Amino acid sequence: MLPMNTQVKADAEAVAQAACDIISQTAVQAIAERGVFRLVLAGGSTPNRTYALLAQTKQTWAQWEIFWGDERCLPADHAARNSRMAIQTWLGQVAIPPQNIHVIPADMAAENAATAYAHVIMGKLPFDLVLLGMGEDGHTASLFPGTSLLASPHDGDIGVQSVYDAPKWPPERVSLTVAALQDCRAQLIMATGVGKAASLREWRDHAACALPIAQAATANACLLLDQALAAAL
Ligand code: 6PG
Repeated sequence: MLPMNTQVKADAEAVAQAACDIISQTAVQAIAERGVFRLVLAGGSTPNRTYALLAQTKQTWAQWEIFWGDERCLPADHAARNSRMAIQTWLGQVAIPPQNIHVIPADMAAENAATAYAHVIMGKLPFDLVLLGMGEDGHTASLFPGTSLLASPHDGDIGVQSVYDAPKWPPERVSLTVAALQDCRAQLIMATGVGKAASLREWRDHAACALPIAQAATANACLLLDQALAAAL
């Protein structure tokens, strides 16, 4: 079942604008209530326009704290790093204190990076807002179909896991676990393009869908789709 709060927007630009508005509103509320806005960023290409739009907004950036849902194990300055893409399109242009930007140290081995990042997020939960993308195979963050989705501390769930066999390059990654991705006050999922229709249909048509995106989505998640994808369902 798709989230109750599934919204269809005209196109990818409208999805990006809606996402920017939701993030801005959530930030204002979080800062008013708790003095800080803890946001988990999605990787991939879909959120890049949202990040560029956010860079043009006026925010109390000093109260923003940034995390990532996953990172590709590549050198820190590699163009394909999720953190580098967000820094280039947005974070490098606004006054979020550097100590509030928590990049996953994925230039080290995935296992070590996962352990290190688990300590970073400890004490920061629940996140105020978790952004997620979705791959055509139904993956989210770096949790792919077939990845062992750690389900509890008993099976070693420290909130962050290493991935060595990702089918989407690069194979070695670091990802928040399902539990950590769900440990949030709000979740925003962005999916655009007809290529994602098959996985969305599977998610829609199965109450107990095993796809990582279905496992990671919270009941109150907001799912933003563009019209082309919605029409292909
Ligand atoms: C990554 C992302 C991944 C992404 C989806 C969707 O490292 O690739 O974390 O989970 O969100 O693959 O990617 P697009 O937005 O580019 O379709």
